[in-house]
Amino acid sequence: MLLEVRDLHVEFRTRDGVAKAVNGVSYGVDAGETLAVLGESGSGKSVTAQAVMGILDMPPGRITGGEVFFQGKDVLKLKEEERRRLRGYGMAMIFQDALSALNPVLSVGDQLGEMFVVHRRMSKKDARAKAVELMDRVRIPGAAERVRDYPHQFSGGMRQRIMIAMALALEPALIIADEPTTALDVTVQAQVMDLLAELQREYHMGLILITHDLGVVADVADRIAVMYAGKIVESAPVHDIYKSPAHPYTRGLLDSIPRLDQKGQELYAIKGLPPNLMNIPPGCAFHPRCPMAQDVCRTDVPPLYEVSEERGSACHFWRECLHG
Ligand SMILES: Nc1ncnc2c1ncn2[C@@H]1O[C@H](COP(=O)(O)OP(=O)(O)OP(=O)(O)O)[C@@H](O)[C@H]1O
Ligand code: SF4
Ligand SMILES: [Mg+2]
Repeated sequence: MLLEVRDLHVEFRTRDGVAKAVNGVSYGVDAGETLAVLGESGSGKSVTAQAVMGILDMPPGRITGGEVFFQGKDVLKLKEEERRRLRGYGMAMIFQDALSALNPVLSVGDQLGEMFVVHRRMSKKDARAKAVELMDRVRIPGAAERVRDYPHQFSGGMRQRIMIAMALALEPALIIADEPTTALDVTVQAQVMDLLAELQREYHMGLILITHDLGVVADVADRIAVMYAGKIVESAPVHDIYKSPAHPYTRGLLDSIPRLDQKGQELYAIKGLPPNLMNIPPGCAFHPRCPMAQDVCRTDVPPLYEVSEERGSACHFWRECLHG
């Protein structure tokens, strides 16, 4: 396995109390595989990714348990300098907001080129040529002319392509894309997602795709891990999830996707709000919002039950859900 996260715990200590953002997350990605991590706002998707990348805000964040194996090494035990080297060569990240992730006062060619100057010790001229090549690779029209332009001179979709180019520059084994298309409109979203999927296949990278939109990842993901209140509540091959979810929360997310064949119908929304992470409900954290909740759900924490060899659900009633 390229990346394996085992029982990761992350807390934030703030003046108001301790927010338990990640509460025992385990997931893995192989080379050439795409894992979609799905869940509502605040479910711990980004914090998990930040811990994996070594860019977690510490303090206030604190990793209180677990391991992160990347190419067989526990990266949580590496020194900061080794971690820095790993970012870029080993794993790279793509963020939602390209405009704030890119440097506004450097041309995109200089930013892309810098990767090669710093990490590959290339001459400025060669680095510039590499930058154009990368911009071509992510299909920015007129790359040779646009290499001197600044980030704000590009459209949102093009900027996101530049972010992808930056992430690809050193040909990492793993890319983590955190809501890479959320800020874009729907057609551009699909184009950027297709490009990312294409490059992932070509470079045979592992890809973790963080999103709150199940609709976006259907065509590109191999597996889906659904997060709720800092835990994986369902983990399965993408087709299994679409065929029939084994967790009521996944079912709720699926039912809230707008469907073209149901125009005009009111969209389903999961009732209630995500829990306060300083005061997570006992038993199954989802019970206050769950249409299937029973007494046992209020007291007993559901383990990740094995639904099949490739599939797990943290619901006491996964059987009923799967066949319901
Ligand atoms: N810098 C921070 N300081 C304090 N608490 C934080 C910080 N970053 C994250 N948290 C806590 O961790 C929780 C999970 O955050 P995270 O960013 O992982 O959510 P997410 O699933 O990525 O949501 P979104 O879809 O909104 O991006 C937050 O709700 C917040 O309580
Ligand atoms: S364990 Fe109970 S409350 Fe939790 S998802 Fe399953 S049925 Fe709902
Ligand atoms: Mg996030």
